[in-house]
Parts: sequence; C-alpha cells; structure tokens
Amino acid sequence: MTDHSDYTVSIHYDRRLYRQDIAGSKAHAAMLSKQGIITQDDADRIIAGLGKVQDEIERGDFPWDPALEDLHMNIERRLTDLIGPAAGRLHTGRSRNDQIALDMRLYTREAIADAVAALRSVQGALAQLAERHADVVMPGYTHLQRAQPVLFAHHMLAYFEMFQRDIGRFTDCAARMDVLPLGSGALAGVPYPTDRHAVAASLGFGEISPNSMDAVADRDFLAEFHAAAAITMMHVSRLSEEIVIWSSREFDFVRLADEFTTGSSIMPQKRNPDFAEIARGKTGRVYGSLMGILTVLKGLPLTYNRDLQEDKEGFFDTVDTLLSTLRVFADMLPGMTLNTERVESLAGESYMLATDLADYLVGKGVPFREAHGVMRRLCQHCEAEGKSLADLQLDEYREFSSHFDDGVYAITAAASVAARDNPGGTAPNRVAEGLARARNILREAGAE
Ligand code: ARG
Repeated sequence: MTDHSDYTVSIHYDRRLYRQDIAGSKAHAAMLSKQGIITQDDADRIIAGLGKVQDEIERGDFPWDPALEDLHMNIERRLTDLIGPAAGRLHTGRSRNDQIALDMRLYTREAIADAVAALRSVQGALAQLAERHADVVMPGYTHLQRAQPVLFAHHMLAYFEMFQRDIGRFTDCAARMDVLPLGSGALAGVPYPTDRHAVAASLGFGEISPNSMDAVADRDFLAEFHAAAAITMMHVSRLSEEIVIWSSREFDFVRLADEFTTGSSIMPQKRNPDFAEIARGKTGRVYGSLMGILTVLKGLPLTYNRDLQEDKEGFFDTVDTLLSTLRVFADMLPGMTLNTERVESLAGESYMLATDLADYLVGKGVPFREAHGVMRRLCQHCEAEGKSLADLQLDEYREFSSHFDDGVYAITAAASVAARDNPGGTAPNRVAEGLARARNILREAGAE
C-alpha cells in the first residue's frame, strides 16, 4: 500500500506561523512560572531555547521534519534537542487546539495592520490624483453611457470612499478578534491555576475568550478577514476595469506608466494594462478562498476538528494576493496620466447637458416630467438632423418649448458641474470638501 502519511502534513505551509507560535509559547512559559506551575529555571531555559529556534528558522537552518506533521511538533522537538527535558514542560496547561487558535489570531492581527497600511497608500494615491486634476471635467457614466459631466477628482474620491469602508471592515474585524483563546486547553479549559489575563496582556489582547469550547472551534475572524478582503478586491477589480477601459484607444482617457503595461509579443503597437487585468483576475481566487473557509466551517460539530487545518492555505493566499495587489495599485496610480483634453472635450459634448437643459426649463416653471419630455424630443430631433444641441438656433429650441431663451447657451459642462452644489455633489467646492475630508482622514491615520 502507498504511504499516505503526508496527507495530514501541514508543515510546508503552517511554518509561516513560526513567529506567532514562538511569541505565544514564550508568553505561556513566562506565565506558567509566574504562577508556580513550572520553575523559573525551566521557563528561562524554554524561553532562551525558543529564541534559538527562532534564530535557526530565520537563518534558514532549522531542521524541518515533515514526519512531525506540523509547526508545533517541529518546534517542540527542536526545543527538546536544544534544552532537554525542560522542553516537555512547555505544553503544560495548553493544547495544540488553543495554540493554533492563538497563532492564527496573532497572524491575522498583523495581516490586518498590513492591509490597512496598504489601503492607506492606495487612498493617498487617489487623493493625489484628485488633487493633481482638481478642475478637470470628464463624462460621468451610467450603464456605461455618457450621462452627466463630473469632476475627475470626484470619480477618484469615489474610490477613496470605497477603500475607507474597506478599512472600516478590517478594523471591525480586528476589534472583534481581540480576544485571547489560549488557556482554553483542548476544549474544556485546563486544570492549572493559569493567569489568562497576564498572557492576554503580554500578547496585546484586550480580552480573554469567555468560553473554551467556542475559543478552540472559532474561526469567524478568518471568515471576516476573507470577506473584508473579497470586498476590497471587488473594489480594486472595479477600478481595474475602469483602467482597462480608459486606457483603450477607444476611450483614450488615461495612459499608464511603462512599467505597468506590457507589449504584445506580436503586435508592436500594444500597451496592455496587464497589472489591472491581473488584479481583476486575482479577485476570483480571493472570492474562492472566502467560499473555502465558509465551507470548511459549516458542518463542524463543536469543538476542534482537524478540518480546521484547512483554514490556512486559502488564508495565506488571500493575504499575499490582497497585499501585493494593493501595493501595485499604490505605485501604479500616481504614474497614471490623464488625457485632460480628451475627457474635457467629451464632457463638453452637448448631449451630456440634456439634463441641465431640462433643469433649466424647470427653473422657468416647467414641471420636471414635462421638461424631460421636451428634452427627449429635442435630442431625437438633433439625432435625426445629425446636429448637436449646441448647433441649434434659439428658434429651433423654441419650437419645442417657448420657455427657452438665450440662457441655453450659458449651459456648459463647467456650469453643469458647478450647479451640483449640494453636499456630496460634483461642484468644485463640494469636491474640494471631499478632498479635504480625504486629506484629513489620511492625516489622522498618520498616513501623510
Ligand atoms: N495543524 C493543526 C491545525 O492547523 C494544529 C492543531 C492540531 N490539533 C490536533 N488536535 N491535532 O489545525
């Protein structure tokens, strides 16, 4: 029969948790001796030995052994080699079940800090783009049809707000998972006078878990992390899609810096937006891992089940994908140049102002519904005649409504944008408020 022992082995991926595992073990050993559960001498030996183990791992000469299955057993075995029987006392009042629950929380906490920092960099890049093109008017879209003029800065700040909510989701996750599971033992608690609060304080947790069975079985924090990452990637993917469209010759709104485009192997004219495309594509695997963790958890009876070992690879992949993607965007966005002439000329195209002309009739006392009908007929007329609204003489306008006067010629893209001067609108002073809000958020976060 084939040897199947490698089926249960996790050391090739869980070794990534070595720092967290060692930090947890040191805190545990220190507490055990303080509580008189092991001697100070043994604790000192254990803590020094764990330091050596960490050095070996970081130098790359730790003797990883797949036969020992996981990280915990590898470290414990090496500790025994290094310090002898005292190593055997480290696992007093602890189980691999509360140990791994701790390691994953410690790792997730760092991943959240990294994700938030990377999101801040992307937000900074968006604020910078908004600032650089503060007055540029571009076509705003609905249904990917030109709809109304908006400021380019308004469009960039829309993404700033999405990423702001993403940061909120990650920080909510961090706040909810700020609970120490260690001290829960295998599932029922431990029969030693441990001091869980001391361990929590030394590892920087705000609270201790109130129920040992929940503590060893819970991976909600991972599901939350995956969900926050999936939503963030969804936002990045939407931005990617815009970048892909905008950098096409058909749109020709933006040009990416050379290092973020690639040529084709056979078509020399091409500047493919590969980074944006790959980011859009990578969104899929992040969604997949969210489904993965939810599915791993859904059928598990209390408490720990070995299925939980399957929480790791998808999670690490999501952390790597999310962070590398955000870091690419933080560097790619500042080098994106806007074709100001092009977007402004399209924004000034007269059909874009049809809503404004309807609003203008409303200003003359015409009910909006009726004004909308007038403008629809006017647009159909222009289309049939092959004219733009701007080409029409006042007489022609007046055939559709007697309320038109010279004022129609004052309606421009700039006037359209300026008119949307209520909170959250695209008027320059409102967008300036949005930018000030963005700058303030970044400053308070220490991101600039
Ligand atoms: N490798 C395991 C995991 O990742 C560690 C905990 C194992 N616990 C046990 N009772 N076998 O979940």
